Amino acid sequence: MERRTFIKSAGALAVAPTLAARPQAAAVAAKTSRPAAVASRNGLKAVELAFKKMTEREDPLDAAIAGVNLVEADPEEMSVGYGGLPNEDGVVELDASVMHGPTHNAGSVASLRNIMHPSKVAKLVMTRTDHALLVGEGALRFARMHGFREENLLTEAARKVWLAWKETLSERDDRFPPQSMDQLEPKLRERYQRFQKRETGTINCCCVNAAGDIAGVTTTSGLAFKIPGRVGDSPIIGAGLYVDNDYGACGSTGRGEANLLNLSSFLGVEEMRRGLAPKDAGMAVLRRIVEHNVDPRLRDEGGRPNFNVSFYLVNKAGQTAGCALFAGRAGQYAVCDEQGSRHEDLAVLFE
Ligand code: GLY
Repeated sequence: MERRTFIKSAGALAVAPTLAARPQAAAVAAKTSRPAAVASRNGLKAVELAFKKMTEREDPLDAAIAGVNLVEADPEEMSVGYGGLPNEDGVVELDASVMHGPTHNAGSVASLRNIMHPSKVAKLVMTRTDHALLVGEGALRFARMHGFREENLLTEAARKVWLAWKETLSERDDRFPPQSMDQLEPKLRERYQRFQKRETGTINCCCVNAAGDIAGVTTTSGLAFKIPGRVGDSPIIGAGLYVDNDYGACGSTGRGEANLLNLSSFLGVEEMRRGLAPKDAGMAVLRRIVEHNVDPRLRDEGGRPNFNVSFYLVNKAGQTAGCALFAGRAGQYAVCDEQGSRHEDLAVLFE
C-alpha cells in the first residue's frame, strides 16, 4: 500500500468514532440547499460569476475562485491582486486561501510576489501537495513550476499612492511631501488618504450549491505599506476563512491581526454549528473581538476598536449574512442567489 493511501485509511479508521458522535444539526439533515454566493462589497461581479458557475454544476470552490479571479485581475481594486498596494519597499505581496467543504481540505499562499492569481496557486497547494500553506520564495517557485507567469503587479496608480505615503512618512528625511501630494490626481489622492489610515481591503467569497456543498476563498494584497513579510489573516485557515461542509462558511476582510488573535472565521462557523443563523454567528464573533481588544492603542475614547473587521457567512441552507464592527466606507456586502445579485447592508455592532 502506498504511504499516502495507508495514512489516509489509517486516519479514516482513527476518526470513525468521532464522526459517529458528531451532532446532527438541522442544516446537516437538509437534503437540498438554496444555492448562494456571498462576498465583500467589492465582489458583486464575483458572486454573479460564482453563482452562474454553480448553476452550470461547477464545484463551489472552482466557482468561488473564478469569481475572485475577476477582482484579482482588476487594476482598479487596490487591495487585491494586480494593482494592489505594495509593502513598504514598493513590492506587492499577496496572500490567499481556499477551503473546500466536501473534502475538508484547504490550501494557501502567503507573501507571494509577481503572480496575479494567488487564489489559483492556493488551490494547487491544496490539490497538488500534502501541505496547507506555502510562503514567499517557496510559494513563488511552486507557482512557476505549475506554469504561472511572473509579472509586475505594481500599477502606476499603486506606485504613485505608495510614493506619496513614502514621501509623507517623516519630516526627518530628504523627501519632499507637498510636491508629491500636489502631483497626485484627485482620485489617487482620495485613495492615498484612505490607505494612509491603513484600511485593508481584500475579497472573500463563500458559496453553497444546490447539493449543500460549501467552499470559500479569501485573497488580498494585505495591509497597505506593510512590513515586508507581514502575513495577515487571509491565508490562515480559521482566521480569514473557514468552511465546514455540514454547517457553513465564514470569511473576513479588515484588520487581519484581530482575526489571527481570535481565529474568527473558525469561530463564525463554530457558532453556526451551535445553531446560530449566519447573522447571529457573525455578530457573536464581532463581540468576541471587542471583548479581547484590551490594548489601549487599538481602542477609541469610548473603548471601541479603532479598526474595522467584516465577516461574510453562508450556512448549509443557503442563508447569507454580512456583519461588521462599523458600517465603514463600504457599509454593504455582495450576495447572489436565485433572486439575482445585489448589495445588502452589513449588520453592524456599532452604529
Ligand atoms: N484582512 C486582510 C489583512 O489583514 O491582510
